[in-house]
Amino acid sequence: MHDEPAFIPFCRPTIEEDEIASVVETLRSGWITTGPKVAAFETAFAEFAGAPIALAVNSATAGLHVTLAALGIGPGDEVITASMTWPSVVNAIELLGAQPIFADVDEDTLQIDPAHVRSLLSPRTKALVPVHFAGQPADLDALEVAISGGDAVIVEDAAHAIGTEYRGRHIGSRPQPAVFSFHPIKNITTGEGGMITCHDEALADSIRTLRFHGVSKDAWNRYGRSGSARYEVVDPGWKFNMLDIQAALGIQQLQKVERFNSARAERALRYAEAFAGVDAIRPLGVVPYPHTHAWHLYIVRLDAERGGLSRDELISAMAARGVGVGLHFTPVHQHAYYREKYALQPGHLPRTEAVGEQILSLPLYPTLSFDDQDRVIRTLLDVLCDSETVRVA
Ligand SMILES: Cc1ncc(COP(=O)(O)O)c(C=O)c1O
Repeated sequence: MHDEPAFIPFCRPTIEEDEIASVVETLRSGWITTGPKVAAFETAFAEFAGAPIALAVNSATAGLHVTLAALGIGPGDEVITASMTWPSVVNAIELLGAQPIFADVDEDTLQIDPAHVRSLLSPRTKALVPVHFAGQPADLDALEVAISGGDAVIVEDAAHAIGTEYRGRHIGSRPQPAVFSFHPIKNITTGEGGMITCHDEALADSIRTLRFHGVSKDAWNRYGRSGSARYEVVDPGWKFNMLDIQAALGIQQLQKVERFNSARAERALRYAEAFAGVDAIRPLGVVPYPHTHAWHLYIVRLDAERGGLSRDELISAMAARGVGVGLHFTPVHQHAYYREKYALQPGHLPRTEAVGEQILSLPLYPTLSFDDQDRVIRTLLDVLCDSETVRVA
């Protein structure tokens, strides 16, 4: 009997010795919550993204929530976003008392469709939240044209887009707010964490207040040398601040983002080559405008008829053979709460719904060895072969 090969996880953060040392140093420093490390991380991230302001929070979910709140989104307002996303922003819209309006996506790239966005505009539309899906940018110029003539502003969901470029510039460099995620699956991590970039000082002030209880000073200022102990709630807010422990990790990770992203790109290319002749498997399409892909996710679409099994069967079979696979995403408008509250019938978003049954995400991270990646590829092809209808060109 020989040992079972080790399970290949779907994702794994890349944590090196300097990150560990930096966190330990912070733990020993006597200041572990929001403080100088967070301030330094904000400065470094702003510079990286090409934005004048960056504001750290404890997740992208928190960042989307607090940004929409600071923009005054509330009851009576509509916010357009994709359904092909993680529920974060949709829940935030709902929790603020506004109504999410779901836009369909391009079925090849899964980017939000500007023409559909345009058709959904109403006098109540206050914001549009496009997702830079899987690490490719949404078509921001086309989306600006789509919402022109109304009052809506764009808030970019840049959770997948650390290092993504649109027309030669980093996501986060445009004037509107963009919200990044540092969850462990993301291109760089702080354990959990998020960052909002923006250009507007007044908006930034409002976010600073709302991310920390709605009090007019944060803890560092209150207890630091320059601070006074007095504080006042000016607007009820949340406890969304990032810790120095997290920022210690983030500062080190940010210095490696190009190395990490090129390791992702290298592995993405290997997948693309491996699947080039397999007609049951189709990787997502490439957006047709100038961009740099951050390769947050490697998503393929399964043609169930050609493959001889469903996407869910494929995911289970791969897990049984020791390969972790992800699903990004189950469309949000199909989740019970939204489906029932807004009486959304099947067929509401035909492209999102069709693709939602076909997609799966393969392991993609800098420490995924080529041997393990080859095993992922072989496992996928074996499962398809075992379903007996695969056709390899
Ligand atoms: C598109 C998108 N937006 C937002 C988020 C939320 O990020 P966080 O986990 O940092 O709250 C995610 C998380 O996976 C995401 O995929």
